[in-house]
Amino acid sequence: MCGIVGYIGHRNCFPILIKGLKRVEYRGYDSVGLALLSRDSFEVFKKVGKVNELEGEISNLSSNSCLGIAHTRWATHGGITEENAHPHVDCSKGIAIVHNGIIENCNELKEELILKGHTFLSETDSEIIAHILEEEYKSNKDYIKATLNTVSKLKGSFALLAVIKDLELIIGARLDSPLTIGIGKDEYFVSSDILSFIEYTDDVIFLNNREVCFIKRDSLTLMNFDGSEIKRDIVKVAKELSDLSNKVFEHYTLKEIHEQTQVVRLALLQDEKRFKTFLEGIKRAKKIYFTGCGTSYHACVLATYLLAKFPKLTSEALIASEFDSIFELIDKDTLLIAISQSGETADLLSCVREAKAKGAKVFALVNNVNSSLVREVDLFLPLNCGPEVGVAATKSFIAQLALLYLISLSLKGDNSMIKELYNLSNSIEEVLKLEEDIKRLALKYKDSKDFYFIGRALHYPIALEGALKLKELSYIHAEGLAAGELKHGPLALISDGTPTLAINPSDETYQRTLNNASEMKARGAKIIGLSDENNSLYDDFIKIPKVMEVFYPIIEVIPLQLLAYYVTLQRKLNPDYPRNLAKSVTVP
Ligand code: AGP
Repeated sequence: MCGIVGYIGHRNCFPILIKGLKRVEYRGYDSVGLALLSRDSFEVFKKVGKVNELEGEISNLSSNSCLGIAHTRWATHGGITEENAHPHVDCSKGIAIVHNGIIENCNELKEELILKGHTFLSETDSEIIAHILEEEYKSNKDYIKATLNTVSKLKGSFALLAVIKDLELIIGARLDSPLTIGIGKDEYFVSSDILSFIEYTDDVIFLNNREVCFIKRDSLTLMNFDGSEIKRDIVKVAKELSDLSNKVFEHYTLKEIHEQTQVVRLALLQDEKRFKTFLEGIKRAKKIYFTGCGTSYHACVLATYLLAKFPKLTSEALIASEFDSIFELIDKDTLLIAISQSGETADLLSCVREAKAKGAKVFALVNNVNSSLVREVDLFLPLNCGPEVGVAATKSFIAQLALLYLISLSLKGDNSMIKELYNLSNSIEEVLKLEEDIKRLALKYKDSKDFYFIGRALHYPIALEGALKLKELSYIHAEGLAAGELKHGPLALISDGTPTLAINPSDETYQRTLNNASEMKARGAKIIGLSDENNSLYDDFIKIPKVMEVFYPIIEVIPLQLLAYYVTLQRKLNPDYPRNLAKSVTVP
């Protein structure tokens, strides 16, 4: 999961590429680089670190280049070093490439190239693309043929951009990693994500799998990998994507936590016909599976509880990367519902493709309506929560939950509860006022070595999500546990001072979870109660507003997001850029 950006046109491309990189930096931020071409120069700059560090280093650049490609990296092959940063160049230093994905046959290709006398400067798989293109272009000086021959040799997943010295064009190719072209006035943008150029144009062309593009100042040519030309309509995308200003908040993560006051209502705004078809698909299915990764998987778990509770339907939640374990059960009577914020998660996309190949119907709940997932499923419902830039999923999770409640309650036909759901925004406002209390808790628990979240029934997926938020942002080891499971092993982990957060609103699970918390307290745990009702058992207490019992999951996750955020600040870490992670995991 890296971010790639390209520009060719009439403007100085340096500031355009830098700003574009900042917009896709959520996809990876181990290192950054760019290649700038002009009539008399071909310059490559790269650095370990974030975009603003490279920008600072070359801010006095007097480049007048109007053609360039750029890259922000999440390391897959090869460590985080300057040599491994993209762009990579060929031996003649006349070709530069940037790549997002994994070249699975890189070793055998590299051996062949070394035998032909190529020397490699990096440990990455991506660098071989530059050398193959060099070989192919050297033999016939035909950049189209050279490109088609190059991509035909590559196995795995790639979205790549290439530039060749003295040629005023950008070459692009796509197999399983996203690549979109923005059409401006006498200028073109190309990127992993529309966010990088949306402020310049909302006219785009999506490159599909096994397609290449050749972009000149005044022309765009699309081809299949077999060389047949393609005509593709321009699509106009929503301009509001460009509202990425982080006016008030220190981090995107906090901004997006606060945007949750509106997210429930936005998620409930669904096209009537599309929504009805979605419900029909669920009613007709003989087997229903939910699948997702990370936070989206936690939404899948809650979905199975909601379908059982309201329309009394059986369904199963599966981590996308574990989907193979039940693959034999998938058939034409299966409905697979994929849940995703980015719509580009590789593990999820391969599930979708496998399920479709077996004849299953595939639906999706997804935030990025311009994503690969949207183009590959039979029907999708948008989360409508706007771009989520913080690596930690926050508002997209609330949007997923709201939509899953709407689906389940609509299948039951309970309009009164749907009205209650719609009014939850007021309670979310209330919860966000807990910020000062949460800051104090964060200070108290910032040095914890381990942290446990316990919950029952609908609160169990929230315990999983609270743990994921804390560990991915603050790097504290955290686990979400089904409260009833403690005595079956995890209780052995409890010792003096072990912090445990009990998700325990006053609903049908209240007393049993309180008993579990008591068992932990008896063994030395520090209990943080998260509830609408305090109890003397709690060493600390987070008071959430009373809501209709079934809706507590939407309310109770917000204090957990805030806790993870403020613990992270206390630990002097940047919540927008957690180490080793990226926002969209586009590699399997
Ligand atoms: C959650 O905070 C993480 N960012 C990660 O687990 C994420 O939920 C997962 O990678 C799935 O992403 P998706 O929803 O875009 O498919």
